[in-house]
Amino acid sequence: MSGGVEDPVAAALALPLVQFDARPDVIDLGWGHPDPQLLPLEELRTAADEAARRWGPDLYAYGFAQGPAPLIEWLSNRLGEVDGRAPDPASIVITAGASGAFDMVITQSTRPGDVALVESPTYHIAVKLLRDHGLEVVPIRRDADGPVLDALSGTLDELHRAGRRPSLFYTIPTFHNPTGSVLPLDRRVELVRLAASRGLLIVEDDAYRELSYGEPPPPSLWSLAEPGSVVRVGSFSKTLAPGLRLGFLTGEPALTARLAQGGLLDSGGGIGHIPGLVVAVLAEGGFYARHVERLRSAYRERRDALVRGLSEALPETVELNRPEGGFFLWLTLPEDHAVSRLLEHSRANGVSFMPGNAFSLTDNLDASLRLSFSRYSPDQLAEAARRIGASYAQAAPTR
Ligand SMILES: Cc1ncc(COP(=O)(O)O)c(C=O)c1O
Repeated sequence: MSGGVEDPVAAALALPLVQFDARPDVIDLGWGHPDPQLLPLEELRTAADEAARRWGPDLYAYGFAQGPAPLIEWLSNRLGEVDGRAPDPASIVITAGASGAFDMVITQSTRPGDVALVESPTYHIAVKLLRDHGLEVVPIRRDADGPVLDALSGTLDELHRAGRRPSLFYTIPTFHNPTGSVLPLDRRVELVRLAASRGLLIVEDDAYRELSYGEPPPPSLWSLAEPGSVVRVGSFSKTLAPGLRLGFLTGEPALTARLAQGGLLDSGGGIGHIPGLVVAVLAEGGFYARHVERLRSAYRERRDALVRGLSEALPETVELNRPEGGFFLWLTLPEDHAVSRLLEHSRANGVSFMPGNAFSLTDNLDASLRLSFSRYSPDQLAEAARRIGASYAQAAPTR
């Protein structure tokens, strides 16, 4: 449990209540979860009461297939403020997080045995989702900024020669998981142009757009593209709370209509009806914007604490990015160092992280690792950096 309060039902069943596997004495930087201290618990509780008062039985009814109108209308405006253009409400579907949105797009746009393209490295669980649907996942090489367009073009040619056409290309252009990178505007424009000219559907994972710690990020691929060639998936997990299971997708109205008329939403009604209406109340009066500002400053401080601590604890030969947003720091060790050895020593010293190869489809990231700075306080992150520094010294190659 993360909150320290024992739940009697969960304890009796011996089942955990939450996904995070808390181990006392381990600062686990492997998880990209928000800091529980930063969840707006009181505001969510008050908004839930107000939603029940305001909508009564309609709060507990099957919801409108596309999602609750008050949330969709607010979200359309919000995206207009933080992205290149506001989606028409008809272009939005409320989903069970970005994961649920991606799963719905895969269901709509692919058949088992199809090819799906992903940049490598990428968010490892997105690959799992694609494989859950029986897709063949083909990696596209990345440089420090994002997918290499010549590599994408080359793979499309190769597949074409083999008589195959990929169903989609999944990419995270903004505050990439795991590297933290941001795809520059000119490459965004080229990417959407290339995809449109080759009839390739882009699924853009925009889960971290709101969490920027410097300049706002460039507009989404979705906002730059011709209608129909990009579906963007988004999330309230990082800005409000992951347990809400609330996210969205923006796509052309033909796609949102197909989704709304599909069996899942026709049978079950809109996804996230209750949390969606609660969030619609919460967002009123500018709360969401103020909350995101607080998160930006809290996570900026956490990022800085980890970057500062690691810069002091590690030699300069360790490459360290300083992400401008999102939850992740990406480290690359000098060539003669193995991440597996560093991880072994780190765990023994009470700190953990994700090895780079977990995110790679080509197993060539033996020297890289991902550290998440989202879940712990600046003091804990400074301590984690000291432990990693000590582990690095112990894991140094002996020659
Ligand atoms: C890039 C990316 N996409 C999606 C998710 C999952 O989002 P959600 O909780 O909205 O399903 C995460 C969570 O770590 C993520 O990093």
